[in-house]
Amino acid sequence: MPLTFDDLVTRARSLAQHEGRAILGISGSPGAGKTTLAEHLVRVLNGPGEPWVAHVPMDGFHLADAELDRLGLRDRKGAPETFDAAGYAALLRRLREETDEDTVYAPGFERVLEQPVAGAIPVPPTARLVVTEGNYLLFDTGAWRRVRSALDEVWFCAIDEDARVRRLVARHEEFGKTHEEAVAWVLRSDQRNAELVAATRDRADLVVPVSALPRVDV
Ligand SMILES: Nc1ncnc2c1ncn2[C@@H]1O[C@H](COP(=O)(O)OP(=O)(O)OP(=O)(O)O)[C@@H](O)[C@H]1O
Ligand SMILES: [Mg+2]
Repeated sequence: MPLTFDDLVTRARSLAQHEGRAILGISGSPGAGKTTLAEHLVRVLNGPGEPWVAHVPMDGFHLADAELDRLGLRDRKGAPETFDAAGYAALLRRLREETDEDTVYAPGFERVLEQPVAGAIPVPPTARLVVTEGNYLLFDTGAWRRVRSALDEVWFCAIDEDARVRRLVARHEEFGKTHEEAVAWVLRSDQRNAELVAATRDRADLVVPVSALPRVDV
């Protein structure tokens, strides 16, 4: 039997059986469907009751454009070196350790401005499971190694390249790029990152097949 979305829900729920707070990571190439999968998992797990699962994307750890300019990295935005990996690892540690009293705030990412926004995502003490997602969760260099070690499990979203590229172009258009700009960006910048991410797939605890991705009407 191929894996289904319900199987993923069961597996995610079982991670939160132990004391304290569990953190599930979802990785995959740009446009593979990480955010969509995380949103669906969180919605289904939370159900109608008091929320106990939080969604904390890696996206909030994009360096700001002003800092990318200073570093000369603006045209590589989205590459591993354009994120604050150490800051992300530190937040994941806090999410593991500070579970009793205070809300821990994570930064969000504003898609139109393409800028991080501090204090955007509250993780209350009642959150027993955090779902975090991003491209570089399985990297084993520098601070990314600390990211992986803060996670209970990492799943990898696998979809075929044509579908991934098509979706990514559509998403860039939706957020303001012309079709030509979107195609150029995806082939130039996203593609290089996609290859880096694809090389980390073997380190995942679970490769999520297309059969288990949520059905989304687009
Ligand atoms: N299961 C699905 N069925 C249909 N369309 C999907 C599915 N998952 C994602 N998509 C579409 O594909 C596009 C990319 O999805 P999503 O934003 O979830 O990917 P991502 O991996 O988070 O991308 P990024 O790396 O850029 O953050 C979106 O436009 C989304 O609507
Ligand atoms: Mg995403």
